[in-house]
Amino acid sequence: MTTLDINHLTVRYAAVDGVHTALADVNLRLSGDDFVVAIGASGCGKTSLLNCVAGFLPASGGQVLLDGAPIQGPGAERGVVFQKHALLPWLNVLENVALPLRLRGVDAMGRHAVAQAKLALVGLAGAEQKAIWQLSGGMQQRVGIARALASDPAILLMDEPLGALDAFTREGVQETLLQVWASAHKLVLFITHSVEEALFLGTRLVVMSSNPGSITKVYNDLPFSRQFLSGVSARAVKSQPEFIALREEVLDLIHRREKLHV
Ligand SMILES: Nc1ncnc2c1ncn2[C@@H]1O[C@H](COP(=O)(O)OP(=O)(O)OP(=O)(O)O)[C@@H](O)[C@H]1O
Ligand SMILES: [Mg+2]
Repeated sequence: MTTLDINHLTVRYAAVDGVHTALADVNLRLSGDDFVVAIGASGCGKTSLLNCVAGFLPASGGQVLLDGAPIQGPGAERGVVFQKHALLPWLNVLENVALPLRLRGVDAMGRHAVAQAKLALVGLAGAEQKAIWQLSGGMQQRVGIARALASDPAILLMDEPLGALDAFTREGVQETLLQVWASAHKLVLFITHSVEEALFLGTRLVVMSSNPGSITKVYNDLPFSRQFLSGVSARAVKSQPEFIALREEVLDLIHRREKLHV
């Protein structure tokens, strides 16, 4: 079982008027195959948090431990999906997904077989030879998810991966993500601005607030993603009274916290 411990994490940036504290003493434990969503207003430190876990950004204080070992840089056991697809336009779909394995020296037959399987998992079987520019935005993000899965990471890190998609495409990729999560049994840390998306996808929801970035509230054992995976339609899940009530509660929490800071 994968365990990620965020202990007293503090992130400071140099600012024109001194030092800006983006995250102050954040503590969180993620484990098992939870789908953990972090939400909060712009600037509350979500990307800083994810970048520390990814190993792109060193902590100014505290530490992040993956299965007990301090994170000191990027690693294959953490797959990252970015907001913009970040695919290489001179490689086709299959080669893009196979890239992390190529960089690790896996032979062509081995890496293509894995890439093909991951593409099938995200609903893109048959698109292997296409160029990146031939794909829709939603398909490009699916390729990004397949690439993040190629190294069989213990944890998937996603920073607003669906933020640039239109509402209709976004809902389709949300459903794919849940199916991938259910079959891959991965720990996920997912960032979004959308409360509806957060509640639909997450088994846990971490609500953050700014000045300085910190955790306001954590909701555990959210039932909605599992309802969808057990056959209830996404529309039915999102329109039930329990879902709507919680959506309004979280929105209210975020707005109230941010008003205190202006
Ligand atoms: N490299 C940097 N240098 C200086 N300040 C930074 C840097 N990166 C982020 N910040 C500041 O740190 C705070 C947190 O930024 P961060 O990007 O983590 O927020 P966020 O919650 O991801 O916001 P958004 O929802 O807009 O993506 C912001 O006030 C931001 O201006
Ligand atoms: Mg961000």
